[in-house]
Amino acid sequence: MTAPLRVAIAGLGTVGGHVCALLEKNRTLLEQRAERPVQLVGICARNKKKARPFTRTTIPWFSDPCAMIDETNCDVAVELIGGEDGIARTFVEHALNKKCSVVTANKALLAKHGKHLFPLAEKQGCALAFEAAVGGGIPIIKSLRESLSGNHIYRITAILNGTCNYILSQMRAQRRSFQDVLEEAQRLGYAEADPSVDIDGFDAAHKLALLAALAWGTLDIDSLTIDGIRTITAEDMALSEKMGYRLKHIAQAYPAKTTIHQSVQTCLVRQDHALAHVDGVFNAVTFLSDFCGELTLIGLGAGGDATASAVVSDILDLARGSHEHPSRVVLTATPTFPQARIPTTETMPYYVRLHVDDRPGVLAEIATTLAHEHISIETAWQQATEQNDVATLVIITHPSPSPSMHKAFAAVGTLKPVRQAPCLLPIINA
Ligand code: HSE
Repeated sequence: MTAPLRVAIAGLGTVGGHVCALLEKNRTLLEQRAERPVQLVGICARNKKKARPFTRTTIPWFSDPCAMIDETNCDVAVELIGGEDGIARTFVEHALNKKCSVVTANKALLAKHGKHLFPLAEKQGCALAFEAAVGGGIPIIKSLRESLSGNHIYRITAILNGTCNYILSQMRAQRRSFQDVLEEAQRLGYAEADPSVDIDGFDAAHKLALLAALAWGTLDIDSLTIDGIRTITAEDMALSEKMGYRLKHIAQAYPAKTTIHQSVQTCLVRQDHALAHVDGVFNAVTFLSDFCGELTLIGLGAGGDATASAVVSDILDLARGSHEHPSRVVLTATPTFPQARIPTTETMPYYVRLHVDDRPGVLAEIATTLAHEHISIETAWQQATEQNDVATLVIITHPSPSPSMHKAFAAVGTLKPVRQAPCLLPIINA
C-alpha cells in the first residue's frame, strides 16, 4: 500500500469539526477509495476545550497553524479558519511556499487574493483546491472544471447564498417582513449575528467571482455589481408573485461585449424557472454551455456535514493523485469566450413598483418619462389602495439597457404624483 496522505487541518469550527468527524467515521471507506490511508497528522484551533463532533484524542494539537505545517511535514494543509486576510492568508501562503498542497473552503480569501494565490500554487507545483468554497456540498467546481471542461460556458445563473434564500423563502411562504424573518433566522442559527456578509450579497459575490474565474479565466471581484436583500418588502414579494414571478437572490455571470458581466442582486425569475423552486437554505446553479445545454445542480450550500463532504472530496483527489491540481484555476490576460454568442446590447426586462396619486394623467406622465429614455412598457397593473387617493402601480418593461432604465427610474422617482420610495428590480430572462 502507498504511504499515507498526511493531512493537517487549521480551523475546527463547524466545517473543520465535521471534516475530522468524516475522516474518522469513514476512514476505511476513504482508504479503500484512495488505495492509501488518509492520516490526520495535526489539528489547530483557538480553543482546545470546545466540544467537537469527533472523538479522536490522539491527533497532535498545535496552537500555531504555520508551525503545524513545519512540524508535521504534511502533504495537504486544510484551511478552514476563514476570513479574507490575517492568519488564513498567512497559513495558505506558508503552505504553498513550503510546496504543500492546500484545500480550503475560504471563498473570501480566494476571491480577494486568488490572482496571487493561484499562480503561486502553479509555480510551486501544488494544488489549491476549493470545492467547498462554492455551494457547500454541491459538486459545482468539479462539474464546471471537469464535467463541462469541453464546453464554452455561455452563462452561469445561481442561488449561492443559503441565508438570503432562506429569508426570501420564508417571507414569501409566510407573508412576513424581512426584519421579522431575519431575527427569527438569527434565533434559529440560520443567520449570523452580524449577517451583513450574507444579506448584503458579498458571500454570493465571492462565490460567483470564483465560478467566473473557472469559466472564463478572469478573477475580478471589483467589477461585480453587488446588492443584497435588505430592501425587499413583503409587498414586492406578493406583487411579483401576482405578476407570475418569484423574488430570488441571483448570482449571474456571462460574457458581455468587452468584459464578463457579473452581478449578485435580488431579481424576479419566472415561476417556471428551475431556480424559482429552490427554497430554504438550498443553493443551486444553472450552467448554460454550448454542447451540454442547461445543467442545473441543487443541494445543500452550507452546513458542517455537506461542506465537510466537499472538503474531503478534494483531499481524496489529492490522495489518489487523480488530479495533480484539483480545481485548478488558470487565469488569463484575455478572458476566453465565443465572440459569436455575445449580445451586442445587454438588456433585461425590469419590474417597477410605485405608489402614486390615483387621478387622471398619472399613468401617462409615468409612461412619458419612461419613453424619454426609450423604455417600453410590456405590462402595467394597477390597484387602488385603502387610501382612496393612492394606487399601487406595477410596470413590467420590455428588455431595456441598464443605464437607460436606471436613469428613467430616477426621473420617475422625482415626479410629483409618485409617493414613497419606488422599487426597481431586474427580471432574469435566461
Ligand atoms: N453563509 C453562507 C450561506 C454559507 O448562507 O449560504 C457559507 O458560504
